[in-house]
Amino acid sequence: MPGPRRTLIAGNWKMNGLKAQVPEFSAMAAGYDATLQAKADMLICPPATLLARLADIAAVTGVMVGGQDCHALASGAHTGDISAEMLKDAGASAVILGHSERRADHREGDAVVEAKVKAAWRTGLLPVVCVGETLAEREAGEAANLVRRQVRQSVPDGATADTLVIAYEPIWAIGTGLIPSPEDVAEVHATVRKVLVERFGAEGNGIRILYGGSVKPDNAALLLSIPDVDGALVGGASLKAADFLAIARAAP
Ligand code: PGA
Repeated sequence: MPGPRRTLIAGNWKMNGLKAQVPEFSAMAAGYDATLQAKADMLICPPATLLARLADIAAVTGVMVGGQDCHALASGAHTGDISAEMLKDAGASAVILGHSERRADHREGDAVVEAKVKAAWRTGLLPVVCVGETLAEREAGEAANLVRRQVRQSVPDGATADTLVIAYEPIWAIGTGLIPSPEDVAEVHATVRKVLVERFGAEGNGIRILYGGSVKPDNAALLLSIPDVDGALVGGASLKAADFLAIARAAP
């Protein structure tokens, strides 16, 4: 029986961050004090070039670092790709998979994402699987159906509370400053929860479901208070320690 869901505040730096960004991470790690540690897990997913460097800093602080994608295979002739094993070797403990930018820019479908989740599991990385609808899909009333399908098809059998995190990120809310109404967030999160419980029984109740898309210090308390919102996946506001820590402090 999984325990109560612990809030997870995750940052996705995307293709942002040179060496000059490292002190910002150090400030986040320093700000992850006993009060914050008591209420939330903290994860930063930097570009792969900074992963090992941040992992060294993170080691003594309890902040986790993760990748933003991985290949399904462990090694081989795949120029430019990074395997889950390599992320793990660099000090990662998690990996974002199926982000809408990967699904769009690299045409990653649910089957590809599912294979990558298996790669994460093979190496003991925690996959953060992203799902979410476009504006056209929301306006067509298809958001819940689309997300249901993505959760069914992007997640392999056998997920547990400790081996899966879902991030619901409406694509039209990413980087736009727009967020759905709390009712709409609650509806989609309830839909995801239902699929997880149908598929994984009691474990499905322990799997964390994050909200992502324009999470900022001034809307974090509202978003994090919605039922079945177990944390946040933060893009732009995760680049600044002050903003990211303010979001984490807003956790109930
Ligand atoms: P945003 O990005 O917070 O900048 O909207 C969220 C994400 O894409 O994970």
